Amino acid sequence: MFYRLLFRSVFQGMDPERAHHLGFGAIRAAAGVPGGSAALRSVFAAEDPGLRVKALGLEFPGPFGLAAGFDKNAVGIDALAALGFSFVEVGTVTGRPQPGNPAPRMFRLVRDRCLINRMGFNNDGADAVAARLARRAAALERNPGKFPPVILGVNIGKTKVVPEDEAVADYVYSAAKLAPYADYLTVNVSSPNTPGLRNLQAVEVLRPLLLAVREAADAAADRRVPLLVKIAPDLANEDVDAVADLAVEIGLDGIIATNTTVARHGLLTPESEVAAYGAGGLSGPVLRPRAIDVLTRLRGRVGPGMTIIGVGGITTAADAQEFLDAGATLLQGFTGFIYEGPLWARRVQHGLRLKELQK
Ligand SMILES: Cc1cc2nc3c(=O)[nH]c(=O)nc-3n(C[C@H](O)[C@H](O)[C@H](O)COP(=O)(O)O)c2cc1C
Repeated sequence: MFYRLLFRSVFQGMDPERAHHLGFGAIRAAAGVPGGSAALRSVFAAEDPGLRVKALGLEFPGPFGLAAGFDKNAVGIDALAALGFSFVEVGTVTGRPQPGNPAPRMFRLVRDRCLINRMGFNNDGADAVAARLARRAAALERNPGKFPPVILGVNIGKTKVVPEDEAVADYVYSAAKLAPYADYLTVNVSSPNTPGLRNLQAVEVLRPLLLAVREAADAAADRRVPLLVKIAPDLANEDVDAVADLAVEIGLDGIIATNTTVARHGLLTPESEVAAYGAGGLSGPVLRPRAIDVLTRLRGRVGPGMTIIGVGGITTAADAQEFLDAGATLLQGFTGFIYEGPLWARRVQHGLRLKELQK
């Protein structure tokens, strides 16, 4: 209730990117004061042994994580974990720092509880993010009890100015820098806001890319780093199948389905308003049917063993359960956080636990 009021009276009237910075800043500040993280955890976190999920050779405290794009620069992992996300995927991080597209580049479709964004991978770059993660790792080693349990995913993408035929080297650079700190690594080839990026989903291009990233990541981290690929909902079904077959062929650890869509169907927001926002990826509830379709298709194709992270339009525990029923191992969300506020992760995880207990 309180967040809905705050959203309507303050955030809704504010530029969405500014609101994001303000909200994220407040979360980090609250977690940063002495005792703050523990206090947040006691109110928001959903630590319950019954929620644990074993996947990717790791034990996740729960099935629900924060999708890539919210914490692009890895500045708030533990604050976000204190809000009840069991895993946080930072990034997308690119080989070189870049400013992203000109603002405004994020838009709210309030009636649909959706977002359109064309951020364009604004981020500090692999060197700066690696240095930040190294500082966090050192602090964690000094004082492990101070940090909430959380699995860290690192999502990497292509630097905009790097030509497509040099993409592999750019990803490899990021993989080598970041893998040592990552519990798992995601190769993002599905954002609609970097020209040409989605062409990397074609299996003949994707195969050498994933193999090179795997080699670089494992060598840099001196262990096997679970490797996932994140795909677009706009792939044709036969291309989804081709990615699934490739994943099996090369022994990929998992697939994340899906990223935002370039489609604009099924919205209540007037077409003229949607058109005025321009290009970008659409996220939120309208994405859910296609994300579930892709997930169902993938699960049918890769068999029961491979980790699939379901993402796209999860708002409630019932939505989350729908993804689990369709074969997801783990779940992520982003847009729901903007509309539902800080209690969202806890609500989804508790709702899932209740459903589990009722079975
Ligand atoms: C503002 C914004 C920025 C995003 N940035 C990234 C990104 O950098 N990398 C990525 O893989 N996905 C990114 N995404 C996609 C989300 O991770 C997620 O796949 C998508 O939004 C669908 O989930 P949702 O409906 O729960 O938001 C972004 C989404 C939004 C709304």
